Amino acid sequence: FQVPFPQNEPVKEYRPGSDERAKLKAALAEASSKTIDIPMYIGAEEVRTDVQKALVAPHNRHQTLAHYHEGDDSHVEQAITAALNAKEEWANLAWEHRASIFLKAAELLAGPYRYKINAATMLGQSKNAYQAEIDSACELIDFLRFNVHYMTEIYSQQPRSSAGVWNRQEYRPLEGFVFALTPFNFTAIAGNLPTAPAMMGNTVVWKPAIQQIYSAKVIMDVLKEAGLPDGVINLIYVDGPVAGEVIFKHPDFAGIHFTGSTGVFQQIWKTIGENVNLYKSYPRIVGETGGKDFVLVHESADPKAVATALVRGAFEYQGQKCSAASRAYIPSSLWDQVRDYVLADLQTIKMGSVENFGNFVNAVIDERAFDKITEYITNAKNDPAVEVVAGGNFDKKDGFYVEPTVLLSSDPVSVTMCEEIFGPVLTVYLYHPENFEQTITLVDQTSPYALTGAVFAKDRYVIELIAKKLSDAAGNFYINDKPTGAVVGQQPFGGSRASGTNDKAGSSLNLLRWVSARAIKETL
Ligand code: SER
Repeated sequence: FQVPFPQNEPVKEYRPGSDERAKLKAALAEASSKTIDIPMYIGAEEVRTDVQKALVAPHNRHQTLAHYHEGDDSHVEQAITAALNAKEEWANLAWEHRASIFLKAAELLAGPYRYKINAATMLGQSKNAYQAEIDSACELIDFLRFNVHYMTEIYSQQPRSSAGVWNRQEYRPLEGFVFALTPFNFTAIAGNLPTAPAMMGNTVVWKPAIQQIYSAKVIMDVLKEAGLPDGVINLIYVDGPVAGEVIFKHPDFAGIHFTGSTGVFQQIWKTIGENVNLYKSYPRIVGETGGKDFVLVHESADPKAVATALVRGAFEYQGQKCSAASRAYIPSSLWDQVRDYVLADLQTIKMGSVENFGNFVNAVIDERAFDKITEYITNAKNDPAVEVVAGGNFDKKDGFYVEPTVLLSSDPVSVTMCEEIFGPVLTVYLYHPENFEQTITLVDQTSPYALTGAVFAKDRYVIELIAKKLSDAAGNFYINDKPTGAVVGQQPFGGSRASGTNDKAGSSLNLLRWVSARAIKETL
């Protein structure tokens, strides 16, 4: 018995004058009119502490959207206890009831909560209406619906039996609790990381990135309204090292579902290794981390299509996607055309507050990100091997604004060609068309990450050559398309090398990591 393969949630376009735009504007006005209070959610309790901190809007640093209550190690302990207490009943609940809660949550997000969660993502994470819609509405809804389908697909995979023997396999949740450590840049990912293990019968301690806390609260509201029992997912705001100290030393720690930086993931992996003797089982370590995603262009490519992909791939959501196009390899013979199309596109792009729907580029997430990104730009300006082709300006007086910036580097291993910047910066390297095959090798050899990559070419032999030679350099590989915007159920997402464990978010590969199977043989 399986839940049928769902349809992807249709994307609303928020055209001027539309009913949906009016509703989203009303939700934004409502959210902007007050400073909300965000408690932690542990078991049945809403937990408030004396340590209240302000969440400011990245597009307007003078606007406080919320006060949240920060916890300490005792709250981490409480969250673990709540998760463990809720475990038995939740794990033993028939899967149909678990499924139905997450399907109901998807319905609530598609209906009454759609504008609220989009407004929270827009204001809290500085995502424009269109980027918020594909993330906090559509992708999150898709994760919930598709994962329910994949869950039933997994449960229905059963071994063969033989004469006089009945074999079967149970897909039990992991023993203990799962820790979800989630990023600021996608509300959908933040929602997927705790719900995917929970769906498979696990209970979860969820620590979101502080910058995403507003939309995290809306996700909790939705899950509770959908009927998620208390303690199945516990949402806490605790300093990372403080939380890690408790969680990674706990004997019931059963696994981590992570999206964030490579450095943090590697540190977590080491800590888990050091503590491995403490745990009842080997913890599952599932992570999606950094990227330095490439666009490799062949002479046979269409320059306009390349330019559109570069602008969208590098600058949508200010380049703060692990999938963002951040280095491009372009044949010198095509550059003038590609550059002119890129510059023409950038001329039409406006930067500013998310409240104005005409702004394509909004603020970067916070001051720390602003300082890091702009340091790369300043250093590039001082590097004789680098030319600023577009943008290069920034300002943090009112909000954290960085212009979409295109750099041309004559050095294929310059800092901005190699390091993840996580901001609106694209670096281009021009190669001589005769050196095409060497350039493929260069792309591979300068890819410690392997998340996304795109090739632009019309020549099928070339496409095949690149696809084969770069087979390990990108977990999500795009042919004549930008390297961002994977859709659940269509392009399962994730990469290997330093980009993560490649357990493909929104797929049965991922859900399988949250079960511990028991094979049963019965002699009849
Ligand atoms: N899934 C996102 C994308 O494909 C990145 O996390 O752009």
